[in-house]
Amino acid sequence: MNSPSAPLAAFDFVLFGATGDLALRKLLPALFRQFVDGRLRGDNGILGVAREAQSAEDFRLTVQDALRRAVPDADEAHLDAFLEHVDYLALDATRDEGWEAFAAACHARDPRVRVFYLSVGPEIFAPLCARLARYKLNGPDSRLVVEKPLGRDLASAVAINDAIGAAFPERQIFRIDHYLGKETVQNLLALRFGNALFEPLWNTSHIEQVRITVAETLGVGSRGPYYDATGALRDMVQNHLLQLLCMIAMEPPSSLDPDAIRDEKLKVLRALKPIDFGNAGRLTVRGQYRGGLTADGMARGYLEDIGKPASGTETFVALKAELSNWRWAGVPFYLVTGKRLPEQLAEIEIRFRSIPHSIFADGGPIAANRLVLRLQPDEGIKLLLMSKYPDSDGLHLSPVSLDVDFAEAFRVRQLDAYERLLLDVVRGKLTLFMHRDEIEAAWRWIDPIVQAWSRASTGPLPYGAGSWGPTAAAAFVQRGGEPDGSLEGSPARLAGG
Ligand code: BG6
Repeated sequence: MNSPSAPLAAFDFVLFGATGDLALRKLLPALFRQFVDGRLRGDNGILGVAREAQSAEDFRLTVQDALRRAVPDADEAHLDAFLEHVDYLALDATRDEGWEAFAAACHARDPRVRVFYLSVGPEIFAPLCARLARYKLNGPDSRLVVEKPLGRDLASAVAINDAIGAAFPERQIFRIDHYLGKETVQNLLALRFGNALFEPLWNTSHIEQVRITVAETLGVGSRGPYYDATGALRDMVQNHLLQLLCMIAMEPPSSLDPDAIRDEKLKVLRALKPIDFGNAGRLTVRGQYRGGLTADGMARGYLEDIGKPASGTETFVALKAELSNWRWAGVPFYLVTGKRLPEQLAEIEIRFRSIPHSIFADGGPIAANRLVLRLQPDEGIKLLLMSKYPDSDGLHLSPVSLDVDFAEAFRVRQLDAYERLLLDVVRGKLTLFMHRDEIEAAWRWIDPIVQAWSRASTGPLPYGAGSWGPTAAAAFVQRGGEPDGSLEGSPARLAGG
């Protein structure tokens, strides 16, 4: 069963880069699941576009294979019916050949919403968008979807935004950060602004620190060349972790209107205190995994994974961010992310301040309340409270947790982030997509960190696969432990500044 939803308008989905990993592993499976849920109509078309010459039949076989892997319980009748919507076109975004016929075929199906999803390298964005505009495929019913990496620094992000902005108005551009499609992230809006309970406590007077952790057990896999040119700061922090930080830290927007929310997120990004050469050594730790023992056995080190003798790319980042505003002054936001860590999890932990005075002299230590928002696995919310331990011998306190597991609570299939985001694109709902100003503000904060690291005398610190990162990051990581607040004075010298 699914939550009630408005029927979708007639739409065509044009997927550039249709033979790539994202398209086959995430996008087409997301469309397929929506098809199975009955949200696609008979006249919806899904057109895969890529450079390689192949028949539509061959492409459908590739898609079928990918769907069987991504959706193991898919039934064959659904697969066959879905594949009837799928077509293929060999087209080069950088040459005019074939574009006239492509545009004519598109226009012949008007009026309808047409989604152009660019699952291609950012270097193709400019020529592709220029052609979409030249062949008048940028009308008011068309939507452009672009994915990270949206640049590798501020200058390249501005260039990308200018190129796509020259072809499409901002209200038709959907910049995806798939973390914003995750259930818990949207639930943050519900939790913060649908309850009177939390908002009065949501500030520096009551919150001691915020921890955002996105840990992955996998290494870089087959994405070595991309990853080695990118690193964890650009791959994860610039987008996913900063977006999570924005959702926690933003002021209440006046409505769910996209601009109302995006304006508030932008203010958060602009309030981030700069981290640069002067303080990066205190406020950041970067690491690179070596071989080590993981839950799945011995894992290779990063350099072996990418097949290079040396690399200065970080696969782990921990940093302490702070916001210069009244609500959050003095509250550290610890951001931690890395590959080959011991657990696969994404969570946000809000640690409240301790009680000002304890009346339970013999009751044992009193842990501060914590609110844990788990994005994955098992999306849910947990509130840690102190409670009386049920014994007859005095008044002993013990922490208990109030747990809400979304799958349990609502008994609905959890949508994959891409399913929700693709539906929003078709519906023209921009709330969960990033404005160009947000991307640029995030880079404006990230660039000085990259520069500080590149000037540092040492590179990323080694950590064993299966561990929680370099030992210097212990004060940042603190999984389930109590904060010691010692980061500033930590003797561990970091790899920057
Ligand atoms: C992507 C990064 O944006 O997010 C990957 O490029 C990372 O390196 C992935 O593995 C994590 O996404 P998720 O949804 O699996 O947490």
